[in-house]
Amino acid sequence: MRTTPGIRTAVVKPTTADLMEDAGTGLDYGTRPDRLPGLLTPTDRFFVRNHAPTPCLDARSWTLRVEGGGVRRTVRYTYDDLWRRFPLVSVVRTLECAGNRRALFGAEHGHRFGGVQWGRGAVGTAEWTGIPLRDLLEPAGLTDAAVEVMPEGLDGARARRPMPLAKALASDTLLALAMNGEILPSDHGFPARVVVSGWLGAASIKWVGRIEVSDRPLRVPWNTDDYVLTAPGRPTVPITSTPVACLVELPWPARLSPVPQTIRGRAYAGEDRVTAVDYRIDDGPWRSAALDGPDLPGVWTRWRFPWSPDPGAHVVRVRATDEHGRSQPDATPWNDLGYCHNSVLPHPVLVA
Ligand code: MTE
Repeated sequence: MRTTPGIRTAVVKPTTADLMEDAGTGLDYGTRPDRLPGLLTPTDRFFVRNHAPTPCLDARSWTLRVEGGGVRRTVRYTYDDLWRRFPLVSVVRTLECAGNRRALFGAEHGHRFGGVQWGRGAVGTAEWTGIPLRDLLEPAGLTDAAVEVMPEGLDGARARRPMPLAKALASDTLLALAMNGEILPSDHGFPARVVVSGWLGAASIKWVGRIEVSDRPLRVPWNTDDYVLTAPGRPTVPITSTPVACLVELPWPARLSPVPQTIRGRAYAGEDRVTAVDYRIDDGPWRSAALDGPDLPGVWTRWRFPWSPDPGAHVVRVRATDEHGRSQPDATPWNDLGYCHNSVLPHPVLVA
């Protein structure tokens, strides 16, 4: 496995301010919420979260190894094997970084959490095409002792994050080779990445070179120190499915004209469905927004409401509810690392 000399850059695709928000690390870029044309986030503006520079891997020498105490034999796949030997499936799924909105979480608590200072843009939806992970594990011969499955990245971070066997065997847990109908771009994990539907983005390991099937629970930095909910006096819990939240397709703050218009956005609920979206202008009543679908678990749903605003400064609040009746809270309980912020946001809008 080699990186191509001379073309190792932090992020390969252009990350211009008309499409993306620079999170200030040189590695991480959010999608601009006001630049979402359709259900899918176009690949050119899909957020990038890199713990190390994007590695430029050569598919001709790349291999994927499946091994560990939970399989009978080690198997190796080449890139060609993946395309030729397995039927491909496509799923539309939303991917959200657990640290999305961390800067807003900090503002809510008057505190600057460590980590990437994300605004609202570390979430996106793509059509992922690839091979169900279970089809790749099967030739290795899963044993009754298999308990966890851990993909490992070939980037400088050697990113890895285990999931229980049942999640790895779900029909929508994929090793993706393509995104939005095109070969996976380098920044999003070429030649292959895992997509763990509905879970925090960190589970969806990019640039996968190895998958360990273990016969015991695995403890690695991304489920002990990072990507966990930890707070004084509470047990530390690794994050899995992300909580219900929504995104208003307006800049923050927004500036609008005093004319009748439609306010749009998306709502998402980790592995679950969104069942309702409500909105409130200033101190007015909560009203229902129209849902335009899709009505699917693990995929954001589009919503809209009409508004004829008067000139002046306004605050727009939008609140989504999931299929279990869980709504976005007014405030998100503290956790030390600033993850999973899903408070109803007071969106500032100046109408002039
Ligand atoms: N995989 C590797 N190998 N290295 C990484 O830094 N970042 C993770 C995940 N997979 C990461 C990774 C995190 S935290 C997120 S949110 C998603 O990739 C982001 O995927 P994207 O950059 O395609 O949007």
